Amino acid sequence: MLFAPQLHAQSKIKVGLMLPASGTFAQLGTDIENGFRLFVKEQGGKLAGKELEFVKLDDESDPAKGADNANKLITRDKVDIMVGTVHSGVALAMTKIAKENETLLIVPNAGANEITRELCDKYTFRSSFSNWQPHYGAGVLAANAGVKKIVTITWKYAAGDQAIQGFKDGFATKAGGQVIEDLTLPFPNVEFQPLLTKIADLKPDAVYTFFSGAAASKFIKDYNDAGLKAKIPLYSAFLTDGTLEGLGTAAEGLVSAMHYADGLENAKDKAFRANFKKEYNKDPDVFAVQGYDAAQIMLAGLKGAKNNDIKDKDGFVKGVETATIDSPRGEFTMSKAHNPVQTIYARKVVGKENKLTGIAVKNLADPATGCSLK
Ligand code: PHB
Repeated sequence: MLFAPQLHAQSKIKVGLMLPASGTFAQLGTDIENGFRLFVKEQGGKLAGKELEFVKLDDESDPAKGADNANKLITRDKVDIMVGTVHSGVALAMTKIAKENETLLIVPNAGANEITRELCDKYTFRSSFSNWQPHYGAGVLAANAGVKKIVTITWKYAAGDQAIQGFKDGFATKAGGQVIEDLTLPFPNVEFQPLLTKIADLKPDAVYTFFSGAAASKFIKDYNDAGLKAKIPLYSAFLTDGTLEGLGTAAEGLVSAMHYADGLENAKDKAFRANFKKEYNKDPDVFAVQGYDAAQIMLAGLKGAKNNDIKDKDGFVKGVETATIDSPRGEFTMSKAHNPVQTIYARKVVGKENKLTGIAVKNLADPATGCSLK
């Protein structure tokens, strides 16, 4: 008897995890993956009854390698879905390749506005934020605090530029404020000293900054060591996320805006934090939440697909579009452009926590300019 190759329902779903495992954002990549795997574990190790097989790739936060890496996952590894990444420049390259190949993509961090604006795509979703969202919230916070003269400091790359623009949009919601200087250095440099000297000379009322990962820890330390923290309030988003271990009191009291906070009183967050701590012996941060929610989005998609089969991509899309995601950050739905509509919280560093102090903007949707998904 001849054994012909059998056509049977696909058993395992191939998930291409494209995240940084090296460089300044390495810890963010780990947190995202841990969050993703935690949700899968909570579901009994499967999503909608399907086993997952992970193909992992270190994208090194290098935009120049972004397209090649995404192509490898699609063409060589034949993944059914990609999850990635952290760095906006890499994610922009990845999004274009996903779009050309009609591959499902869930972005678990990178905020490049274009991903859910001009480059939006029916098979692309974001579990995180657009760069505009948290920084707009931070701008509102600074404006409401009566800050008048601001200096900004960030990396010169897509996310840095968009962070500062988002902040300025929020800051402009109250008249009378002024950004007197924008300081930048190339990604991922951390030679902050000359710029800190400039800030001391400019004597603004406050500084606004976007740095993240290992570089953010160094910035907090350097700002404190330069004696600036006591004199010039430092506002941010992302700076104090995942960076508070080992900083002593250098970050104490720093105010920020973000779509997650310590001290949210919802049942989902309590369970998530307890499970995460048990699994990884560490408290979760916003990046872990975004990874966890990427897996939740994937489950919502599979539930919408015929026979929970990921090959039914249009069913998958419908499943996500109609879902309410029960996130540790609070429930959210997807905008028409597939970006979370979410509350931006106000926070203050107390010990090792970004303690919730209030709400910067409730249910904030990115403007989604140039996206024609309906
Ligand atoms: C980005 O490049 O979009 C990015 C990176 C790290 C963050 C936030 C945004 O913490």
